[in-house]
Amino acid sequence: KVPLVIDTDTAQDDCIALLVGLLDPRADLRAITMVAGNVGFDQQIRNAFLTLNVAGRLGEVPIHLGCRRPLVRPWESAENVHGDGVGGMTMDMTGCDPDPEHAVDTLIRLAAESPGELTIVCIGPLTNIATATVKDPTFVDNVKALYVMGGSNNARGNITAAAEFNFYVDPEAAKAVFAAGFDITVIPWAPLTLERAVFGERQRDEIAALDTPLSRFFTRACAATLEFDRSVGINGTTHPDSLTAAALLHPELIRRVGQYHVDVETAGELTRGYAAMSWGVHGVEPNASVVEDVDGPGFYTYLCDVLGRNFYS
Ligand code: BDR
Ligand code: CA
Repeated sequence: KVPLVIDTDTAQDDCIALLVGLLDPRADLRAITMVAGNVGFDQQIRNAFLTLNVAGRLGEVPIHLGCRRPLVRPWESAENVHGDGVGGMTMDMTGCDPDPEHAVDTLIRLAAESPGELTIVCIGPLTNIATATVKDPTFVDNVKALYVMGGSNNARGNITAAAEFNFYVDPEAAKAVFAAGFDITVIPWAPLTLERAVFGERQRDEIAALDTPLSRFFTRACAATLEFDRSVGINGTTHPDSLTAAALLHPELIRRVGQYHVDVETAGELTRGYAAMSWGVHGVEPNASVVEDVDGPGFYTYLCDVLGRNFYS
């Protein structure tokens, strides 16, 4: 089993990535840590508990609350994309209490408990990870690897022309994390997600036809994003976060990886959060493996397998 933590700004595909971590037999999900990102922090907490609940794992995996805003900038949300992140689903939150330990301390503790074994799946802004590196100088060495959803390796952004949302929201944190010396695998927004992890109408109908609580959860959680994606010319919902979790647990899905030196723009007028990915001709050493191609149909089949489980019947 793969020991992991998922660090998340829980909305839409973050929820699906949590389902992967919660339900894949290869995953040993030790904690969910939350960071400011997609939607309001309290809504993200509700979304995480909803996801635990639909996965049948309420009370089994702790949710730890982390940094409520980026390192130096005001928080900016993606509520225009995600709505509340779960299509209006609600549940009785009685007894749904986050663990009192701060997420940064959880990350530091879990990494130190089994040095060299813990992988962190980072699917929100990198504020918690950057803060942990500052708080505990041994953190970087204690962590086995980071799987980071963020950036684009052809500069096509989804929040500005140059920037992908996770790096845009906290560019200083992203810059610090790539400079810290972690073993990092990056799942970029473009072109990878757009080419391999967009589910259109056919997939949406097939997932709905699975007719399980999990597939209904998927359909509802992704509904708002589908509307938004259509309005900007993407023909389906995007799944970079669940792809990141799947790539860790099923490396056989990865087809091509490039070695890059990744740095993140913090000062540019038009390029805040831009991921500069140098491939070796610029006199810099690689600091990250960037996933350039995956088995898209294989990823979709895998997610259908996760969503098709019906442990209620
Ligand atoms: C990333 O931003 C968020 O909106 C998604 O959850 C994903 O992590 C894509 O840019
Ligand atoms: Ca996310």
